[in-house]
Amino acid sequence: MPGLSFRVLSLYIFFLLRPPNAGAQMNQHAVLGRTGVPFSFSPTWQILGPFQIGTREAPWGADPLEYYGGFRSLDFDDEAAFRSSLPSNGLVFWSTVEVELSDVDNAGVAALLTVAFPEIDWSFLQTVYGWAATQFQAWARGEIVHEGPSALPVVLFSDRIIEFWVDGKSYFGGDFYAYRRAPVVLHLEPGRHRLDVRLVRDVRAMGGIGEPSIQVEMQLQPAAGGFELAEDGILMSAAVTGKLVSPWASVSVRNSGLSDLEIFALEIANGSSDLVPLQNFPISVKSGQSRPLAFQFSSLEFNTSSIQIAVKYRPALDHDPISTYVVSQNITHSRSLYNPHKFTFLHPGGIVSYAMIRPPSTNASCARPADMLLPILLQLHGAGVEAESDAVAHALDSVPDICAWVVFPTGVTTWSSDDWHAWGFADVEAAIASLHLWLQSTGWHGVGIDVDRWLVSGHSNGGQGTWYTLAHRPDKVFAAAPVSGYTSIQNYVPYSLWQPADPARTAIVSAALNSYRHEKLAENYKGIPVLQQHGEMDENVPAFHSRLMRKILSETEANSTYVELSGQGHWFDGVMTTDPLRQFYKDQLRNHESRPPLREFSIVVGSPGNMGSKGGVTVEQLDNPGQYGRIDIKISQPSSDWCLYEMNTSNVIHLSVRPWPCWNLRLKMNGASVRGDDLAAAQGEVVSLWLSGDGMWQASSAVDVPATVERRRRRQLGPLDAILRSEGPFTIRYFGSNTASLALQISRNFFQYFGADTNISLGSIPGNASSTGNEVVIAVGEALPRSAYSEYPIQVAGPRALTIVDHAGQRRRYGGESALAAVFLRPLGNERLELVVWGASVEDAARAARLVPTLTGIGQPDFVLLERSSSWKGLDGAVAMGFLDQKWSVSKTSFVT
Ligand SMILES: *[C@@H]1O[C@H](CO)[C@@H](O)[C@H](O)[C@H]1NC(C)=O
Ligand SMILES: *[C@@H]1O[C@H](CO)[C@@H](O)[C@H](O)[C@H]1NC(C)=O
Ligand SMILES: *[C@@H]1O[C@H](CO)[C@@H](O)[C@H](O)[C@H]1NC(C)=O
Ligand SMILES: *[C@@H]1O[C@H](CO)[C@@H](O)[C@H](O)[C@H]1NC(C)=O
Ligand SMILES: *[C@@H]1O[C@H](CO)[C@@H](O)[C@H](O)[C@H]1NC(C)=O
Ligand SMILES: *[C@@H]1O[C@H](CO)[C@@H](O)[C@H](O)[C@H]1NC(C)=O
Ligand SMILES: *[C@@H]1O[C@H](CO)[C@@H](O)[C@H](O)[C@H]1NC(C)=O
Ligand SMILES: *[C@@H]1O[C@H](CO)[C@@H](O)[C@H](O)[C@H]1NC(C)=O
Repeated sequence: MPGLSFRVLSLYIFFLLRPPNAGAQMNQHAVLGRTGVPFSFSPTWQILGPFQIGTREAPWGADPLEYYGGFRSLDFDDEAAFRSSLPSNGLVFWSTVEVELSDVDNAGVAALLTVAFPEIDWSFLQTVYGWAATQFQAWARGEIVHEGPSALPVVLFSDRIIEFWVDGKSYFGGDFYAYRRAPVVLHLEPGRHRLDVRLVRDVRAMGGIGEPSIQVEMQLQPAAGGFELAEDGILMSAAVTGKLVSPWASVSVRNSGLSDLEIFALEIANGSSDLVPLQNFPISVKSGQSRPLAFQFSSLEFNTSSIQIAVKYRPALDHDPISTYVVSQNITHSRSLYNPHKFTFLHPGGIVSYAMIRPPSTNASCARPADMLLPILLQLHGAGVEAESDAVAHALDSVPDICAWVVFPTGVTTWSSDDWHAWGFADVEAAIASLHLWLQSTGWHGVGIDVDRWLVSGHSNGGQGTWYTLAHRPDKVFAAAPVSGYTSIQNYVPYSLWQPADPARTAIVSAALNSYRHEKLAENYKGIPVLQQHGEMDENVPAFHSRLMRKILSETEANSTYVELSGQGHWFDGVMTTDPLRQFYKDQLRNHESRPPLREFSIVVGSPGNMGSKGGVTVEQLDNPGQYGRIDIKISQPSSDWCLYEMNTSNVIHLSVRPWPCWNLRLKMNGASVRGDDLAAAQGEVVSLWLSGDGMWQASSAVDVPATVERRRRRQLGPLDAILRSEGPFTIRYFGSNTASLALQISRNFFQYFGADTNISLGSIPGNASSTGNEVVIAVGEALPRSAYSEYPIQVAGPRALTIVDHAGQRRRYGGESALAAVFLRPLGNERLELVVWGASVEDAARAARLVPTLTGIGQPDFVLLERSSSWKGLDGAVAMGFLDQKWSVSKTSFVT
């Protein structure tokens, strides 16, 4: 479910049920009784707002107070008025609000801040601008008060906050989805500390019904001041009859001390078994950093109820003795192999993730020989829901005997990281690719798994993920059931209230989201039966989305059935097992093999970096990234031993064909024949086709372009979020000591929003072929190392300037007095990427760092150069932005000034 996560919802209810004034009484005593910590939050907070903000616009800046030097430079003033497009007379004033203070279970204190602006005529604004009008931004100022005698290490949680400042130091971002995985570590000196919080309302995270308000929660808890766990326990598989179903496991640790730590070993604390870490020791955990430590158990036999793992660590650069921390985890013993249970595996980013798995029941009568393979039924969860919760893992209990392997992936987080896109979808595919581990571990002798045949379904954000999967893996998906799903984030909560910007710039933001606009990719669905289901009265994801898709699907000759449930809302018990869905699962799982291949179809591609084949045809390169590519295909078989492929292409310069069902093929590309001699492909062999400089297509059975830094390919393709297609943990390199806190912040965001692992390292030479993970490089001015590719178009040209060679070959210079900031993707060997975060000063680099992926829908293209004015103008403060093509050249539709 989008909207409130269950945890936040229950917290909210908890506060509603508290006796009146309970909070106010506590306010008088900074030292709270039960948990006895010497620090608290101030009871009264100052508020300034509301101001306009667009959907997912905040990472671009767009904070009107920045024009006046930022909220941090303003003091409370009864008289002061600020211009705002929302209130009557266009003016907002300071106000104050009481926060609700409470104890935290074990130790610590929480402040719940609720901010609403009832004086604004929201309902009228909403009749004009829709849900976009119920989103706003504001600032709040309070204090952390530490009455103890000495400095204390604490962690600060920032639920549903996008950014905040503590004593004038900026933190971007907060914990917008309330994951609580990577809080900020503070070393709190005695006294009062100013806390400035930027509040941004977001319909997807906070709901769209009723008077718009923002509730955020801050929590302060004492920290160990050294090694501690970032998440309780051990992430590991369930056991069945005393044996784990997968060897992969991980422990997440945090360093809340002032000096860096090194992890020296992981051992099973009692018991004779052993474990093998994924990375070599020592593993560095910087001051303030959180990291997951991935490992495999050597033996899967665990008949005990719990397991203890000893983590051995010591301060880096020190000869202190090694300390040991013992992590304990109760082992989940699944009642039966046939119950949904937790199965762990390795995500390509070098972290351990899990999916819930339910093998086909012995009672399933699938009318096929015992040695046959059964397909996979993927069920993608909604936003804010954990896959192991009953609401997800037991959603199909009432259809126990379907002929499929049911997999409920997580996408790593409850928001499936990036809405099941680059990082979240890699998780789905990694789960599927690891199912053989489950077969081995359990000694399974039943029916096998056809890992390339998927029935994909999902609810809400998972319904959107279903459209994504269908559009990007049409050769694997044989049927799809998007339930209460949305089409694209832009259709969900319109982008109409962003700060005004040149359409040349907004077009680029929009184009950066091309792969996620499922209504534009509908032609890829042809030939795949779709059952759409939506509640008529859905107030969370309006039925409009499914009605729109129904109409579009009919125009693309896709085979779809639409079921609108009259009177039903977004979610109800049994939403995934209504009569039409049960029938659909049954029919599709029975019939999927008999379907003939398509002879006439089209492929639409946003970015080849995330697109699989359709009908055996794969788009490898677009001419102009940032514009959809398209192929219309007609396959005929004039004689029994050869096929004719007629293809018309648009914006495609490289594609490949895996011919079927012919041994030989002939090609007609845009009406012209392609030389036939080379094309006698053995069945299963791939033919590559390139558009040459003279406009003619050339074929070759040389399958691949070599992986050199001069050519951009595969997982390097796509807009900025391609950085998430990392194979292995990320490395974050920073140049100059003032950039260390930015490295830590990016590391924290990667762990918070993606569960990703990052190795932070000071300077040194970027990338070598031996490494596998992608890198983030943070540098100020001339400290940025040169690109691994000498012809790379964006170069440092002095301490405060960059140059870009534009599409026409002209070198353009940016910077000087404009306080330039930039993010851009550069190539590294081994098909890797380097994301550069650059600024004329550290403050400028911090502005650029906001555009490193966190939330979806921000629309970062391959490169962006921002002036300081972006902090209030938002996107319009970008002086250059756009896409880099297959030769890493600036594409013709990029925006330059
Ligand atoms: C663990 O328990 C299961 C069933 O209780 C038994 O079949 C298995 O042999 C046991 N394994 C070991 C290593 O004791
Ligand atoms: C480890 O010790 C705990 C008690 O301290 C016990 O419950 C558990 O079964 C032991 N684990 C193994 C693998 O022996
Ligand atoms: C682990 O199991 C023990 C015994 O059943 C129980 O007391 C304890 O609360 C469990 N711990 C967790 C974290 O669930
Ligand atoms: C098969 O059906 C029987 C009888 O209804 C039931 O007891 C058993 O649990 C079922 N097995 C599975 C794996 O669902
Ligand atoms: C569309 O799907 C339905 C149900 O799966 C099936 O009966 C029908 O034959 C399909 N039509 C086409 C044109 O594929
Ligand atoms: C390609 O374009 C030509 C000319 O417009 C048209 O006749 C032909 O049908 C098209 N082929 C496909 C497969 O769309
Ligand atoms: C992590 O970075 C350190 C330098 O800080 C380096 O020595 C180590 O090899 C790196 N580890 C990995 C796995 O890349
Ligand atoms: C990468 O490693 C190779 C040998 O493995 C070495 O020759 C080369 O200099 C290294 N390049 C960089 C940039 O470190």
